[in-house]
Amino acid sequence: MDPRIERIQTAVEYIQERIGGLRPMAGIILGSGLGKLADSIADPIVIPYAEIPDFPRSTAVGHKGNFIVGELGGKCVVAMQGRFHYYEGYPMETVTIGVRTMFELGVKYLFVSNAAGACNPDFRVGDLVVIKDHINAFPNPLIGPNFEKYGPRFPDMTCAYDLELQALAERLAAGKGINLRKGVYYGSTGPTYETPAEVRYYRLIGADLLGMSTIPEVIVARHCGLRVFGMSVVTNVANTKNVERNLNDADDVVKQADTAADRLCALFASMIASL
Ligand code: HPA
Repeated sequence: MDPRIERIQTAVEYIQERIGGLRPMAGIILGSGLGKLADSIADPIVIPYAEIPDFPRSTAVGHKGNFIVGELGGKCVVAMQGRFHYYEGYPMETVTIGVRTMFELGVKYLFVSNAAGACNPDFRVGDLVVIKDHINAFPNPLIGPNFEKYGPRFPDMTCAYDLELQALAERLAAGKGINLRKGVYYGSTGPTYETPAEVRYYRLIGADLLGMSTIPEVIVARHCGLRVFGMSVVTNVANTKNVERNLNDADDVVKQADTAADRLCALFASMIASL
C-alpha cells in the first residue's frame, strides 16, 4: 500500500477504536481562533493529533490540534480543532490528511472555516463571509499519482462550494438575524501577509478575501466527492497603501476571529441540524 494511504488508514483505525460505533456525517475544520466551536459539541470525544500514530502536529498560532467527535445540531460530527498549513512546511498530502481521514470515517459534508483578510473594501472586520468560489495560488494538492480510491484524475471544480448549502446558510442566517456576505477566497502559501500592490492585484482579479489555508482541503474534499461549505471571518481589511505602520498582526487576527466565532458556531450548528 502507498505509505500516504497507509498513514490515513492508521489514523482512521485509531480514531474508530476511540469512538466505538459512532459514524460522523459531517466534518468541520476550525480555522484560526475559531476552535471554540468545539465547546458546542455535545458528548465530545477529544483525540489529540499527538496521540494518533504517525499523525502530524499543528504548530500554527490559534490552533489546538484535536479531532473532536460528538453531537452538533443533533448529528454526529467530527471537528478538527486546528489544521495544517503549507507555510508550516508540511507537504500537501499532510496539509490535507484530515480531509481524507474524515472521508474514511464516513462524512458526506465538509464545513471549512478560516480567518481571512478582506480586499473587498465593503467588508468589515468581524463580517462572516460565505465562500462562493476560490482562486488557488498553492501548488495543487492532487499533483502526483492519482489515488483512484478517492476520486478522478481531473476533478471538476465548477461548484466547489455547494450551492444548496450556500442557500441554506443564507436562509438560516436571515432567520437568526445574522448578516452574511458572499465572496471569492484567494488562497496563497503565506506566511507573509500581502504587500499593498499584491492586495490591489488580487482585488483586480476578483478576490474578496485573502488567506493561507482552506483551498488545498477543499480541492481534496471535492476530489473525494464531499459537499463543501466554506466560511471566512474577516479579521482585518488588507492594506492597499504603503503606510509607515505594520497593519497585519497574527494575534489580532486570532482575537477578531474569536468574537465572530459565536455567530459562525450557531450557523454551522443549525445548518448541520437541517441536513
Ligand atoms: N492575508 C492573508 N491571510 C490572512 C489575512 C490577510 O490579510 N488575515 C488573516 N489571514
